[in-house]
Amino acid sequence: DDDSTLKQRPPVVTIMGHVDHGKTSLLDAVRNANVVSGEAGGITQHIGAYQVEHNGQKITFIDTPGHAAFTAMRARGAQATDVAILVVAADDSVMPQTIESINHAKAANVPIIVAINKIDKPEADANKVRTELLQHEVFVESMGGEVLDVEVSATKGTNLDKLLEAILLQAEILDLKANPDRTAEGAVIEAQLDRGRGSVATVLVEAGTLHTGDIVVAGDEWGRVRALVDDRGKQIKEAGPSMPVEVLGLQGTPQAGDRFAVVENEARAREISEYRQRIAREKAVARQAG
Ligand code: GTP
Ligand code: NA
Ligand code: MG
Repeated sequence: DDDSTLKQRPPVVTIMGHVDHGKTSLLDAVRNANVVSGEAGGITQHIGAYQVEHNGQKITFIDTPGHAAFTAMRARGAQATDVAILVVAADDSVMPQTIESINHAKAANVPIIVAINKIDKPEADANKVRTELLQHEVFVESMGGEVLDVEVSATKGTNLDKLLEAILLQAEILDLKANPDRTAEGAVIEAQLDRGRGSVATVLVEAGTLHTGDIVVAGDEWGRVRALVDDRGKQIKEAGPSMPVEVLGLQGTPQAGDRFAVVENEARAREISEYRQRIAREKAVARQAG
């Protein structure tokens, strides 16, 4: 895409960190603080990712267990996230999975924002967290570095605004852009077979705009988009860059981290999907043969 076709797009954020440091609590707190009250399906809908708006700007949060999704996407060569929020509990400080998360983010070249969580606890020690992060080459601003850090409490809702502002600031630095006026492509965040609805894949549109009626290939599956459902459970007609959306209409169920792309017609979709399924079968046979 040449530069003139590119338009600003929202940042896509994943949350990482040690077990029990508050990843889920923080995701829930951010989401609930930004849901318009009384909105139908606003809080209960779970599609593996959601968007919030802060000062008129959107932010996409990937809501699947951070590590698993991130690792699966990386393994398939996808680079779906722009920013990683590293959650570190201020009463527990840097732990093994904190370090693992730092290494993942660095390997993927994804900038980190540190959320020092549980600052409501009497034993919280935010400076200890900052100092220990230094030893793992995460240099936060107050220590003379460039990594943004925010003290938060997920359970009390403290400083969630500041966290969102830090994300938007980081996004501005990254200057995130995509062309909305082309055929869509992106990544599968999660997918399952639903009794009533058939195959349901939550995808993140990275570039282009996905429409109902489009023919897509996702991993080694294909289908015509029968419906698109947003993170509030609402049916929509199209989804642009950085938007997470449920796709109904695939013939089978792709895997988290699979790429998806719109193709020109059913014949082409079938051809690609059959080819990929054949390759997968051959690989499986080769593995069994040792
Ligand atoms: P895993 O997904 O199991 O790795 O945990 P997690 O990182 O998602 O942590 P989770 O949100 O489940 O929180 C773990 C525990 O910490 C829960 O009991 C939360 O209520 C508690 N917790 C989370 N955030 C805060 C906080 O800001 N303050 C306090 N006091 N407790 C918190
Ligand atoms: Na937990
Ligand atoms: Mg959790």
